[in-house]
Amino acid sequence: MRSLIDIQDLTPTEIDELISVANDIIANPKKYSEVCRGKKLATLFFEPSTRTRLSFEAAMYELGGNVMSVSSGSSSSASKGESVADTAKTVSCYADIIAMRHPKEGAPLVAAMNASIPVINAGDGGHNHPTQTLTDLLTISREKGRLSDLTVGFCGDLKFGRTVHSLISALSRYTGIKIVLISPEELKVPNYITDDVLDRNGIAYEETTDLITALPSLDILYMTRVQRERFFNEEDYLRLKDSYILTPDKLRHARKDLSIMHPLPRVNEIAVAIDDDPRACYFKQVYNGKIVRMALIMKLLEVSV
Ligand code: NCD
Repeated sequence: MRSLIDIQDLTPTEIDELISVANDIIANPKKYSEVCRGKKLATLFFEPSTRTRLSFEAAMYELGGNVMSVSSGSSSSASKGESVADTAKTVSCYADIIAMRHPKEGAPLVAAMNASIPVINAGDGGHNHPTQTLTDLLTISREKGRLSDLTVGFCGDLKFGRTVHSLISALSRYTGIKIVLISPEELKVPNYITDDVLDRNGIAYEETTDLITALPSLDILYMTRVQRERFFNEEDYLRLKDSYILTPDKLRHARKDLSIMHPLPRVNEIAVAIDDDPRACYFKQVYNGKIVRMALIMKLLEVSV
């Protein structure tokens, strides 16, 4: 039985397979409409979510399966003090697979160690978000036709942004990757990303505070929201929240074939006027997120067409 807690739990070959199943689902959705008949997904979300929870649920419905949902900590026994381990043992009696989001880093790992069914990490604190990474990799592969030989800029809250940490970790296994880290000094990526991921894998990277000078070299610009809920004080958040706002004017410095990505939700980081620019990919990411989660659920439940 397999769980997905960290993107490194999947080999690059397995990621290629998920991308190829996802592409087949896009081409032939009917083929997959009954493969999870009789199976149940439990979504346990102890933090807010729109896309991740609904995309997991839509994915399971589109595979012909069923869904049970805890959509906030306050509506579950977690609010009575139940441990993650006990919740995982309990839900294992009802469901076939769990998708869990939790504010505590490592909570989905604890769930996986105690569950008797596969557990998918749907975001743990400021740590990891491996299914957003699968979404991002599917999007990059569909937009660029490759996952190697790319210059990828990450912009915004690189300290608390878990989607950034997981995607850098995933990209560090491909060749010809260059990473440009664009953030305020206070929101730089954690040291474990520069030391244990980038340096250890010999990935070329630079850190800068300046989006405009970084833009011309980028194949992909991955914008992120400043993660208000992870700040210790509101004043710091208010000072940093509008550090980077991508506007049509700034985009004139970018390449014609740039792909602009964002895990969403967007607050202020991308002007709405950019949504109609052919380089904007963030709503395509939303669609790809449902599709790649269909492929992942099938893999972890070991079902095939
Ligand atoms: C992200 C998350 O929850 O980490 N959202 C998502 O899952 N698409 C990004 C964010 O909240 O800023």
